[in-house]
Amino acid sequence: MIKYNFSPGPAKLNNSVLEIVNKNIIEYQEEGISILEISHRSDSFEKILETTKKNLIELLKIPSNYQILFLQGGATFQNTFLGNNINQKKSTSNLITGTWGQKTYEDFIQIRDSKKILLENNQILEFLNQPLPDDIQNTDYMHITSNETIEGIQINNFNKIENDLIIDSSSDIGSYIFDWDNVAYLYAGAQKNLGIPGVTISVVRDDFIEKNDNPTYLNLYKLINKDSLLNTPPTFAIYVLNLVTDWMLTMGGINYFERQSIEYSSDVYALLERYDDYVTLPVENSLRSRMNIVFNFNNEKNEQAFIKESLDHGIIGIKGHRSVGGVRISLYNSIDRPSLDYLLGFMNSFFQKL
Ligand SMILES: Cc1ncc(COP(=O)(O)O)c(C=O)c1O
Repeated sequence: MIKYNFSPGPAKLNNSVLEIVNKNIIEYQEEGISILEISHRSDSFEKILETTKKNLIELLKIPSNYQILFLQGGATFQNTFLGNNINQKKSTSNLITGTWGQKTYEDFIQIRDSKKILLENNQILEFLNQPLPDDIQNTDYMHITSNETIEGIQINNFNKIENDLIIDSSSDIGSYIFDWDNVAYLYAGAQKNLGIPGVTISVVRDDFIEKNDNPTYLNLYKLINKDSLLNTPPTFAIYVLNLVTDWMLTMGGINYFERQSIEYSSDVYALLERYDDYVTLPVENSLRSRMNIVFNFNNEKNEQAFIKESLDHGIIGIKGHRSVGGVRISLYNSIDRPSLDYLLGFMNSFFQKL
């Protein structure tokens, strides 16, 4: 049975990417060995590394005063990594708009002091539309999560925040254009919009990189200086990232995927609003994520039936996170229009039966 994968990540990959992977798992570009066997010190891998960085620079319009680093340990490792690499003399704040930002804050404060800014749905807009409160204005860096994957809350106009930012963009990287001016450090696990688990991309502004005495894998300065090759990097995950970024550029780059995500998410939200007798959308209009659409049924029985019937129809990955319940539809870049139309068709007929 064909499956329609709307999972929150690891997520769907485009078929053309899977076909290339498939071929190169058996033999990488007629080199006589698999991509899985390739040495990270080989010329072939160095080329993969270089072109992956080039693709990211082109896609995300990364300015020349930023470095790209590939690490393991997921976005979760970044909490410890960042906590240890921000000079203790520098001050930080954590803007918490959902689960992942909260987890970052909890890890940060085991390592350093950080100011907590915990905001509910309606307070987020107010926060974004006003000058920063006095006690926050002077912090050196503010950590934000641009897209809270579990709650479906997205802040993609973070350029308005008058502070240098550290951004967890794990679940919306590569889906809109932004200005790098107030971004000191941006990171994202690849497994949603850009590939598979195993590699986390960090984009680091030069002035953020400071020498310190941290042990090897906690040492941003050393890792940057060794160009992600201080130890064995996740070669296969970087290779898939290379293919996905190639595919994204061929499709038309970020502009294409920004348009796509606006179009897809608008279609799903519009359908849900038509059936607002049956469902509730918990997120304020202008904070609604284009990547993870979260909603709740007003009646538990309908929710269970919806999840069960979606599975019967081959639609997978849409049960809300166990911590918040409800339904979550993830619309990452690799979702194609026929899959979305299939989902919309299913949802429409489900609601019409109610
Ligand atoms: C926004 C965000 N941050 C962090 C994480 C944690 O990522 P990882 O499992 O790669 O550590 C996730 C996982 O879904 C996420 O969505």
